[in-house]
Amino acid sequence: MRRAAAQNTTDIRLDPAASFTVSSRVPAVNEALLQHTPDGFHVESVPAAAVAAALGTPCYVYSAGAIRDAYRRLDAAFGARPHAIHYALKANSTLALVRLLRGLGSRVDANSIGEVDVALRCGFQPRDIVFTGVGKSTAELTRAVTLDVHAINVESPGELDRLDQIAIAHGVRARVALRVNPDIDARSHPHISTGLRDNKFGVPIAIARTLIGDMARRRGLVPVGVHVHIGSQITTLDPLTRAAEAVAALAGELVADGVPLEQIDFGGGLGISYDGAPVPDAGDYVRALVAAAGAVPLVLAIEPGRSIVGPAGVLLATVVDVKHVAGGRRFVVLDAGMTELMRPALYGAFHRIEPAAPRPGAPELSDVVGPICESTDRFARDLPLTPVEVGDLMVIRDVGAYGAVLGSTYLRRPLPPEALVDGDAWSTVRRRQTLDDLLQLEC
Ligand code: LLP
Repeated sequence: MRRAAAQNTTDIRLDPAASFTVSSRVPAVNEALLQHTPDGFHVESVPAAAVAAALGTPCYVYSAGAIRDAYRRLDAAFGARPHAIHYALKANSTLALVRLLRGLGSRVDANSIGEVDVALRCGFQPRDIVFTGVGKSTAELTRAVTLDVHAINVESPGELDRLDQIAIAHGVRARVALRVNPDIDARSHPHISTGLRDNKFGVPIAIARTLIGDMARRRGLVPVGVHVHIGSQITTLDPLTRAAEAVAALAGELVADGVPLEQIDFGGGLGISYDGAPVPDAGDYVRALVAAAGAVPLVLAIEPGRSIVGPAGVLLATVVDVKHVAGGRRFVVLDAGMTELMRPALYGAFHRIEPAAPRPGAPELSDVVGPICESTDRFARDLPLTPVEVGDLMVIRDVGAYGAVLGSTYLRRPLPPEALVDGDAWSTVRRRQTLDDLLQLEC
């Protein structure tokens, strides 16, 4: 049952009891860095309660150590094979985290010009950046071309034409990689699957060889690679391996055709365990890509987001109400809601939720909800939760990726602060937004 849940529905919860039992989880490298102790939940050596007391709740807290571990595991698994890790900024582009990753040798994958500029402000060079996106505007393409980023991942023949014209108009040649759609089912949540023929992403792999041959003859383009990304939160290696084999075979043919490619970019997508179900090991994932690439003499690039920062973050929230309704349902209302963490409302995603300092007593099935006036504002249904009281601090796990970045200010709720812990030290890396911050754009 739990394995089926992981394979077919990613992090959508089918088995609440199993999901709650922390001890049943497959041990992860960073598990020791974000854990319960007799003195309450800690991020590395810092008590969650200390950060919450200083910053208030809701607030995000990240572990620098967990991010380093996750990055290094991916990096090390490439061994001697030339490679490039382009961290997917969309997962979390808070400056302190981006700078931390830069210090580890990461490069970046940007999905908007805003993310390109964040990377530049964090000290990345244009050649550290791959620029992806299914609908890049002329202004975005122009900026990427004139910056001369490492690769613009191109999504359609029309975009190739536009890029060619823009580059010619600026007297330069744009470095382009073609995003292919291999028509492979990532077996992830349909909202985050991108590699099927009827998804909007990439060009059919069947026409890629001809298209890249054509690109090589354009005055304004330099084809530097092939790119694939079939989805996110993928919890079995099989689809990732098949996509890698397909794109590596294409790259091999192009190299044999004499196209001077530099890299194969396998995208991101490696899933993490939100509920304790087994997920592929990061090292095994990289080794599968390396094996799929075989002897193709190109740099192997990846664009991981979630697997690097996801498990490294928690959202701290305070219980603001506990109410029992007819039929025996217990609602635990938090001061964090879908405005701070959208994933449960958007994808039915499951995140473990635990009291920072559990009280003794038998678990009671609870709906954990936010304060927003929407019924989708619910983090968990029928979650077995030990007794909680108003004022208790709660920890929502595995929110380092697609957490803070998806936040909104609905109901005029200012964005929450973020803190980064490193060992026994921590600092605020984003302060809480104020109502004045929110209103200053208005005339
Ligand atoms: N590369 C490309 C082209 C992408 O579109 C993405 C994610 C990544 C890399 C990074 O994928 P990752 O390694 O993080 O799986 N908001 C959703 C996830 C959307 C993912 C979008 N693209 C969620 O909360 O699950």
